[in-house]
Order: sequence, then structure tokens, then C-alpha cells
Amino acid sequence: MLFQTYLILHTLALAWFAIGTPVAPDVNIGTVVNLRIEGAEKTIFEGPIFTRGHNVTTVAGGNHHCDGTNNHENPRPGPTCTSALDSAGKEHGFTFDGTFDPEFDDFFITRIGDSPQTATQFWGILVGFEFTPVGGCQQRVHLGDDVLWAFDAFSKNHFLKLAGPVTARSGQPVRFMVTDGMTGGGVAGARVVASGRGAGSQVSDASGHVTFTFNARGVHDLKADRDDSIRSNGVSVLVV
Ligand SMILES: *[C@@H]1O[C@H](CO)[C@@H](O)[C@H](O)[C@H]1NC(C)=O
Repeated sequence: MLFQTYLILHTLALAWFAIGTPVAPDVNIGTVVNLRIEGAEKTIFEGPIFTRGHNVTTVAGGNHHCDGTNNHENPRPGPTCTSALDSAGKEHGFTFDGTFDPEFDDFFITRIGDSPQTATQFWGILVGFEFTPVGGCQQRVHLGDDVLWAFDAFSKNHFLKLAGPVTARSGQPVRFMVTDGMTGGGVAGARVVASGRGAGSQVSDASGHVTFTFNARGVHDLKADRDDSIRSNGVSVLVV
């Protein structure tokens, strides 16, 4: 459904160009991003989300625009990191709060789900494993961006990234790799937990590798974590 909406909007956008519109259309067509929200104790959300720039309302901050034109960061409205957060919350039933800073013309997110900031732990925003240079309503996002909201983002050693095969044969060992999403270097000592009967967990070796042998057929979901790091993206492997 989401993707269909995207296709329709995308087609509309193409139609604009097809009829030779001399200037870029000033419409906020929205896009689909890969959104991940890593809370204090668990992943709050991970998945694709359709979002467009729109007004966001929080208890502490009130109702304000959140479409990339905040603080004159972009000339035209469009989807942003915080609009994606808001879209996901509405669709998947979690809430968040944030104060509004008139100077930056942006929200400062103070809680997502059950993870409020503390005196020393704050929420951070990354796109493609890089901290955004501006706030969440100023930072525009584009189709397929990996948008990450991370609790206690500023005191962690690594933002873990997990990679591996999408299919595996039952009874055959398969290798996954844990890296630091910012540097690409392997991360040792991360715990990779796999869902599904008998799959268990493994700890990454010195080069960041873990090897699983799945016996139960079907989909297993894997995710890596380490005490001093932001947990990884999930990887799903289909065992046949
Ligand atoms: C959206 O927020 C702006 C302030 O940023 C306000 O002026 C405007 O009235 C709001 N629009 C809606 C539809 O609430």
C-alpha cells in the first residue's frame, strides 16, 4: 500500500516533467526511507516508511512545520528525518516528544517511545551512518535513505552494521559480518542474536565475523549489539 502510494506520487512527479514544466514542481511529493529507531533497551521501529514534509505536533513543543524549509535550510518543502519519525509513530502506534527551539526553527527530540533522554544521554540522528549536520526538520531525506534515530548516540563507540546472505541452506554454515557503519571496519565482540528455533546467538570474532548453521527452515532475523555501541540493522535470511 505504501509503495503503491509512492508509485502513484512518483508517476505524478514524472508527469510534471513529461508535460514540460519549465521549473521544478513546487510540490511536496514525499518519499520512502528505511527508518530505524534504536531505543535504550530495544529497537523501537525498523522498516520502510512513507513520509512527506508536514507539520509536527509534540506535547512540549507545539505545532510547527517540519519540511526542510525550517531555518531556511532548503528552498522547497519535502520529507525530513523528523517527518519520517512522526509518520512512523502515527502508523505504528508509538509516541515521541520534543521541545521547539525558535532560534533553530526546529524540534529537539527528548523522548521516543519509552526512551526519554537523560542528563547525559541524548537522541541523535544519522543518515547513511553519518550524523546529520542540521536538525531533524531541516534535514531533507530521499528515496532509500537509511535514517537512524539513536538513543545515547553521542557516547557510543560504534554504530553497528550487520551484513550477510539473504538465503542459506539448512545445515550449511553461513557467515555474517559486523562492522562499524561509519568506518567499515570489522567489530569484534558483538553479540549477534538470531530468531527462530535453535538459532541462538554468536559473538563476532576479531575480524567481525560470525558463523551460523541454521537447521530450521524459514526466515531467521539477526541483529547485532554490543554494550558500548548502537545496535545494528536487522538482517533476514531465508533458510531453505
Ligand atoms: C504549521 O506550522 C506553522 C508554524 O511552523 C504554522 O504557521 C501553520 O499554521 C501550521 N499549519 C497547520 C496546518 O497547522
